[in-house]
Amino acid sequence: MELLEAIKSRMSIRGFKPDPVPREILSELLSVATRSPSGVNCQPWEIYVVVGEALKELGQVYVERFSQGIKPQPVIYIGQETKGMSPSLKGVYRERQVELAKQMFQLIGIEKGDEKKLREYYEKMYRFYDAPAVIIIAADESLLLTSVSLDIGLLTQTIALAAQEYGLGTCVMRAIVDYPAQARDIVKIPHSKQPIIGLAIGYPDWDDPINKLKTERESLDKILTVVEEA
Ligand SMILES: Cc1cc2nc3c(=O)[nH]c(=O)nc-3n(C[C@H](O)[C@H](O)[C@H](O)COP(=O)(O)O)c2cc1C
Repeated sequence: MELLEAIKSRMSIRGFKPDPVPREILSELLSVATRSPSGVNCQPWEIYVVVGEALKELGQVYVERFSQGIKPQPVIYIGQETKGMSPSLKGVYRERQVELAKQMFQLIGIEKGDEKKLREYYEKMYRFYDAPAVIIIAADESLLLTSVSLDIGLLTQTIALAAQEYGLGTCVMRAIVDYPAQARDIVKIPHSKQPIIGLAIGYPDWDDPINKLKTERESLDKILTVVEEA
């Protein structure tokens, strides 16, 4: 697949076929993706692939916690002041978040106020959309005040782009690291490593209406400033 085509066609996949992803394909994909750049080439990533019974257990435990109303505790935002849950969005950022939810819920037939269907949707999200594999990217605790989240972001996007070459779809998911203590326990991530982000990965089920979602982007003129004169 051509690079520009891969960038344009990548989208979050939230409906997967049950077919497992062969181990060799995952290894090849992850090996290629680690060509991603990182500050001073420190390669601050540790990659965990979760499949089979471990993945089933992770999903069960996450759904249980979600159902009990336990607040997510992801650590995407790194740094002493910002460590912890992401802040609520405001202004245009909130508008875009609401638009995404509207589009998605319309596609999968969840009407405003339908708490039952909404809960079912979130439960499915906490089963990582029933993907046959989940990738967790973690970083050493000693690196958390560096550019680690930027480096891991680059790796994450590279995995998502390269996955398409193998016919695979991905969804980058904060939800996968929403309960880091449980992730650590089940995936056997040592305490010295902090789960940063996850991806659900598998073969897309194109018949699933949720995969019809095409998200919008702001036009370039609204976000671009070109400075020419000194
Ligand atoms: C850091 C990050 C966290 C995300 N977490 C979730 C998540 O927990 N659940 C989910 O369904 N999608 C998640 N997404 C996917 C975004 O909703 C998606 O990328 C965005 O709506 C743009 O759509 P697209 O990926 O189809 O282009 C996440 C994406 C990023 C980059």
